[in-house]
Amino acid sequence: MIARATSTARPDLRPGASLLEAYAAVRRVTSELCRPLALEDYVVQSAPECSPVKWHLAHTTWFFENFLLAPLLPGYRTFHPRYGYLFNSYYETVGTFFPRPMRGLLSRPTVEDVFRYRAHVDEHMRELIARLDPQRDAQDVSRVTLGLHHEQQHQELLLTDAKNLLALSPLHPVYREAADEPPVKGGPFGWLEFPAGIYNAGFEGQGFAFDNETPRHRVFLERFALATRPVSNGEYLEFMEAGGYGDAALWLSDGWRKVNEAGWQAPQYWEQIDGKWWHMTLSGFQRIDPHAPVCHVSYYEADAFARWAGKRLPTEFEWEAAAASLPVAGNLLDSGRLQPSAAGNASHQFFGDVWEWTSSAYSAYPGFKPLAGSLGEYNGKFMVSQLVLRGGSCATPRSHIRATYRNFFYPPDRWQFMGLRLATSPD
Ligand SMILES: [Fe+2]
Repeated sequence: MIARATSTARPDLRPGASLLEAYAAVRRVTSELCRPLALEDYVVQSAPECSPVKWHLAHTTWFFENFLLAPLLPGYRTFHPRYGYLFNSYYETVGTFFPRPMRGLLSRPTVEDVFRYRAHVDEHMRELIARLDPQRDAQDVSRVTLGLHHEQQHQELLLTDAKNLLALSPLHPVYREAADEPPVKGGPFGWLEFPAGIYNAGFEGQGFAFDNETPRHRVFLERFALATRPVSNGEYLEFMEAGGYGDAALWLSDGWRKVNEAGWQAPQYWEQIDGKWWHMTLSGFQRIDPHAPVCHVSYYEADAFARWAGKRLPTEFEWEAAAASLPVAGNLLDSGRLQPSAAGNASHQFFGDVWEWTSSAYSAYPGFKPLAGSLGEYNGKFMVSQLVLRGGSCATPRSHIRATYRNFFYPPDRWQFMGLRLATSPD
């Protein structure tokens, strides 16, 4: 019997799709994302925080093998006895794992071996899903759904890691040609105002959410206002041209140290040629579009820009209060652009384009309980020294994002599609 999907948040490509169809659809998207790559692109690791494409393909597969097939499918034999060591990312309670910074040094298993691994696990996952009864096996069905959302997270990482790798090449390789779209101007800058009061934050109800989005709880917010759209490249250029990168008074201490150590003068992937700014995109080397949201900035840069503008970054709770009632729509992975873009007057761009840095430390909500067992390591153990980002990006699948979703990265990180939206506290 095929388990029927009951959740609207499951990463289905169409409403009412079965769990089996959702599984096939998500795994197919991963394979399709690989299609533009050359064999060499699968293997190289361009930075310690990035992983080779080959590793993403194998690690997401290991997740299903380790957390579903091994414990739940009678008689299942792992594809290879050492793959657990190679493709476990960080689950200490599962066992030791291969050092992350060395993932790009592995020529074996080959890409072909990894695709064979995927096919093996897919075949057995189809068998397992066919055995699951949505009522009797609700917990196991949830775990398959978690595996699908995990794979969707890695779809975005696969793209951002591939971009980081391709950007290293002086040949400016094109991952996907940009569509020939008419230029769009950014929406007018304005403010969305919200009264002081008690707001709800966090996930509750039907559908999928990660444990770090729960429990839903009340927060008190003073009166606040959020910008009607993210900060644009043109606005960020004004900050650069005003000497923003050279003015210590604008920077957090850690940020000022990082700017000077790394020699940052612009967002990641930007390059000035004959006085004009260009940047590397997944569609190759392009002129900066002044109307598009600025992207690939660290928390330090986002914070310094906001200070220069006389504003601040929103808290994650302000962001969620503003986005909670909006439809999940925007320039997400599904649009195929793979680059933040201006949206005209059509949208406030809370979803898609760029993950928006918030000033909120990534920590546990009151009453937070991590998932039981090894999967409790998925989110909870990272709740220190990172900041929350909201809203998804042009590389986030639409069925993966929601208003309560909490992404998190370290303040200097900027290789994800990261940008910012201004906030202010009205008098
Ligand atoms: Fe993972």
